[in-house]
Amino acid sequence: MKIAVLIGSLQAESINRVLAKNLKALAPEDVEFIYLDIDLPPFNQGLEDKLPVKVSALKTAIETADGVLVVTPEYNRSIPGVLKNAIDWASRPYGSNSFNEKPTGIIGASFGSTGTAQAQAQLRNVFIYLNTKLMGQPELYISAERTFDEAGSVKEDSKEFLQDYIDAFIKHVEASRG
Ligand code: FNR
Repeated sequence: MKIAVLIGSLQAESINRVLAKNLKALAPEDVEFIYLDIDLPPFNQGLEDKLPVKVSALKTAIETADGVLVVTPEYNRSIPGVLKNAIDWASRPYGSNSFNEKPTGIIGASFGSTGTAQAQAQLRNVFIYLNTKLMGQPELYISAERTFDEAGSVKEDSKEFLQDYIDAFIKHVEASRG
């Protein structure tokens, strides 16, 4: 199974990258995580008939994956612009939405008590509009301080809910494939 992973942060030290790596470690070995490059030019509808090379590569990676997992921070109580930009590109041109009927999951971590709840809620709205097969449950709002130790490993009391999340997501992708 191939999972395309969209991390909504460009920084190398991203806690969401840490979260994605820990989810990968909890998944069965035959589940491949393909980390997508979302460092793209700003969306420009005037370029839709000649997509930038990196955008075409992003669209192909999403279309050929069995599912898409978004692991995102929250910026100013919303979706990080860099992630929304990538989603806008991949949804276009009209009639060529790469997310159409794709099994999807959303999860995120932040340094703060609300654990990306608002970014995830807004992203759910976008993914329903884009006709993805979005996993409804479980929802996970990760507090980075509570979940990871200083080395970036999952604390013992947080392993179970991360395991439950990735198990449910894999089941969701399998069920959606038919
Ligand atoms: C943040 N941060 C943040 N956290 C949060 O829980 N809710 C929020 O609305 C915001 N807003 C916000 C805006 C901007 C512009 C920045 C840079 C940061 C803090 C955020 O959780 C923290 O920087 C994380 O480390 C970002 O995730 P990554 O990049 O480590 O994955």
